[in-house]
Amino acid sequence: MSKSTNITWHESGITKQERRQQNGHHSFVLWFTGLSGSGKSTVANAVAKALYEKSIRNYVLDGDNIRFGLNKNLGFSAEDRTENIRRIGEVSKLFVDSGQVVLTAFISPFKEDRAQVRDLLEEDEFIEVYVECPLEECEKRDPKGLYKKARNGEIRDFTGIDSPYEAPDQPELTVNTNDHTVERCVEIIVEYLTSRNLI
Ligand code: ADX
Repeated sequence: MSKSTNITWHESGITKQERRQQNGHHSFVLWFTGLSGSGKSTVANAVAKALYEKSIRNYVLDGDNIRFGLNKNLGFSAEDRTENIRRIGEVSKLFVDSGQVVLTAFISPFKEDRAQVRDLLEEDEFIEVYVECPLEECEKRDPKGLYKKARNGEIRDFTGIDSPYEAPDQPELTVNTNDHTVERCVEIIVEYLTSRNLI
């Protein structure tokens, strides 16, 4: 539902197609989803570097970082997570319109929220990457000490502990960070993008 009235959409003089042409590549979203500690940010940043080295303009939007700024007014209730993902979906769409590749690293635990983002974009503009890693392994890694806090009851609504994570049924790609190194995950993703002529 929109609160704004009396607003008019202005067409930009430069089309998405023209921006893509100037950049010399397609623009799309690589949407990483997975548990906290699964390796979303690590893999996304490593893919970003690989794309950069191929002169593909790209940018990473990372859950923790975005919550310091744009989404600092949101917490971890189901409602706030939905709003978090909605905003990132809209920002991602702007990046795609600007002719760039955007890599997003958010838990994005709800299927419906991810489906809404998919709906905002064209078929060849949304690539869902499930960063798979067993909860026990994420908990063992516990890079930020948050699982420990969640188990002690110091943090509520923690994904995988007392807040759900809905794994994708049909992601474009799955990379398992428990079975594969970061380098191998990057290879799998780059090979996939190449095979679909997206890069
Ligand atoms: S999302 O669910 O709304 O997509 P997002 O990816 O933005 O989450 O933020 C997740 C990060 O916030 C985690 O990696 C972790 O560092 C931190 N965090 C703090 N509290 C929670 C919580 N209750 N559940 C999950 N992550 C949390």
